[in-house]
Amino acid sequence: MNFHTRKWVKPEDLNPNGTLFGGSLLRWIDEEAAIYAIVQLGNQRVVTKYISEINFVSASRQGDIIELGITATEFGRTSITLTCEVRNKITRKSILTVEKMVFVNLGEDGLPAPHGRTEIKYVKDQFQEDGISE
Ligand SMILES: CC(C)(COP(=O)(O)OP(=O)(O)OC[C@H]1O[C@@H](n2cnc3c(N)ncnc32)[C@H](O)[C@@H]1OP(=O)(O)O)[C@@H](O)C(=O)NCCC(=O)NCCS
Repeated sequence: MNFHTRKWVKPEDLNPNGTLFGGSLLRWIDEEAAIYAIVQLGNQRVVTKYISEINFVSASRQGDIIELGITATEFGRTSITLTCEVRNKITRKSILTVEKMVFVNLGEDGLPAPHGRTEIKYVKDQFQEDGISE
């Protein structure tokens, strides 16, 4: 799993208990996962269809640096299934796991459309396919 995005936990991200607010974390994860799906499927028109059990493993506090990791576990006909983990960048302690997030690829009509992808593509390879070698 690649941990691309880092976040610095700030006062506006906290709950009244003084720890990272779950809603902030879910917003970050949903956006990160959507970007991952857009890149993998090569289509900006993707929507979140399903999010499985979310496990808030441990709390994060103001000043913590956390990182968000996403990887694809399954390519369907019109969907892509991802798994996610958020951890403390310094201690590597797990903060949240989401077993399964399903995004659906939509056509211009807003209906599910086949995406034709079957495996993870890395940006480096996508650029090579476009004729850009580095
Ligand atoms: C996404 C949406 C267009 C899909 O419509 P639908 O009628 O369920 O479409 P389908 O039944 O053809 O399913 C589409 C894909 O989703 C998968 N899917 C549907 N329901 C699912 C569920 N509960 N869990 C996991 N996957 C599911 C199907 O297996 C299919 O994948 P596949 O083609 O790879 O096999 C529709 O449900 C929708 O608009 N939902 C709202 C999305 C939204 O607003 N999200 C929040 C903002 S981004």
